[in-house]
This record gives sequence, structure tokens and C-alpha cells, in this order.
Amino acid sequence: MQIFDTTEGYGLISKIFHLLRLIILLSIYTITKLSFLNIPFNCHKALGILMFFIILGNIVWRILNPYPKVDSVNIVEKNITFIVWFSIYVLLALAPLTGYLMIYSSINMFNLFNIASIYDSDFIKNYIINDIGMPIYALTNLMAIIHHLIVEILLIFLIAIHILAVFYSVIIRKKKELGKMFNFNNSINK
Ligand code: HEM
Ligand code: HEM
Repeated sequence: MQIFDTTEGYGLISKIFHLLRLIILLSIYTITKLSFLNIPFNCHKALGILMFFIILGNIVWRILNPYPKVDSVNIVEKNITFIVWFSIYVLLALAPLTGYLMIYSSINMFNLFNIASIYDSDFIKNYIINDIGMPIYALTNLMAIIHHLIVEILLIFLIAIHILAVFYSVIIRKKKELGKMFNFNNSINK
């Protein structure tokens, strides 16, 4: 089984990262939007923090690996594809970060350990109030606005473009695109 990506296709680790991102995002939106499920909101936060660390690992992996060739017709389409992918990475790091900066409570990470709120630290509190000159509530309100903007508009918009582009390739252009990311049997799939 091919572990690393090559210019011909994605290796196992990138496919696992892609699947994890998909599953975690679906879980976060399901928990948040289907409130009748009554899943504790801490799960949202814990999964969000997990996503942050996965994305950090994913970014390192991306830098260490070449991107497989993109089957596109022209350079404009190719550039748009990379801009969409790059923006998804940035937003997937910013969403948890802004979420973390908007809460005062600690986060229970699946009963394994707790992550304290950044505002528990007097040093940070004093730094924000004295050096940046911002009341804490103004900062948390700002983070809440950015969090909502990212998760309710930007991220959904970019992922929708991404999925539509993949299905356009598969259905209209008849390319075997899905196997590139979802076929775990072959080492490298074009
Ligand atoms: C990729 C990671 C994340 C995604 C996709 C995400 C997604 C969302 C969504 C869809 C909402 C609902 C917005 C609305 O209904 O208006 C939301 C709200 C919220 N999120 Fe996140 N979130 C993420 C990470 C986090 C993290 C790590 C935290 C905190 C540690 C967090 C804390 C919150 C809070 C406090 C709210 C506001 C709930 C409310 O409106 O009462 N989120 N998030
Ligand atoms: C049903 C859902 C999805 C399908 C069918 C799908 C399919 C694919 C395919 C086939 C590729 C390879 C495209 C190529 O190299 O030409 C790809 C790459 C990619 N996908 Fe998705 N995807 C889905 C959901 C998502 C989600 C939810 C995200 C973000 C959280 C995402 C982010 C990415 C990124 C960033 C790449 C570039 C490769 C990388 O850096 O990992 N995809 N996707």
C-alpha cells in the first residue's frame, strides 16, 4: 500500500485525512443543527479541537508530499481548484481557533483530559486588557462573529463548490475522480 502521495495519485495517509475531515465535519454539523438529538454541546467543541490537530498534521503532510496532477482543462480551472483547497485548509484551522477563543469554559476531550479556557490565564487576560486594550467580551463577541461567518457561510460555500466540481468531473467529464480519494484498495488511483 502506497503511503506517500505522488504526482500520479494520493497515498493512504492523505486518503485517511480526507475521510477524517469529512466524518468530523459531518458529525459537528449534525450535532449542532439537529438539536433534538440532545447531544451535549461539549461534543461540538471536542470534535472541533480534534479537527484542529488533524488539520495541523494534515498541513505538515501536505507540505511533505507533492500534489497529484489535477485533471483539468485549463490553467484557470487548475488555479481555482488549488485556491479552493487552500482556503478549505485555512478555514478548517480558523474555525476551531475562533471557537476556542469565544468560550470561557474548559473543554472535556472525550473524558481523556481537559483543555482549559485561554481566559483562565491571568497573564493572557491582562495581556488582552492592558496591552491590546480590548475588553474580553469584545474579543469573544468578535470571535463569535468570525466563527459564524466561517462555519455558516464560507466553509459551506467552498465545500459545496468542491463537491460540485468533483461530481461535474465524474458525471459530465466521465473521469474516475472518486477513486482518487476513496479507493483504499489500490495504492495509487488515477
Ligand atoms: C471545524 C470546527 C468547527 C466547526 C465546523 C464548527 C461549526 C459550528 C456551527 C455550524 C455552529 C452553529 C452556528 C449557528 O448556529 O449560528 C457553531 C457554533 C458554535 N461553536 Fe463551533 N465549530 C467548530 C469548532 C468549534 C470549537 C473548537 C469550539 C470551542 C472550543 C466551538 C464553539 C462554538 C460555540 C460556543 C458556538 C456558538 C453556539 C451558540 O450559538 O450558542 N466551535 N460552530
Ligand atoms: C462527498 C464529499 C466529498 C467528495 C466526493 C470528495 C472528493 C474528493 C476528490 C475526488 C478529491 C481529489 C480531487 C483531485 O485530486 O482531482 C478531493 C480532494 C480534496 N478534498 Fe474532497 N471530497 C468530499 C468532501 C470533502 C470535504 C468535506 C472536504 C473538507 C473538509 C474536502 C476537502 C478536500 C481537499 C482539501 C482536497 C485536496 C486534496 C487534499 O489536500 O487533501 N473534501 N476530494
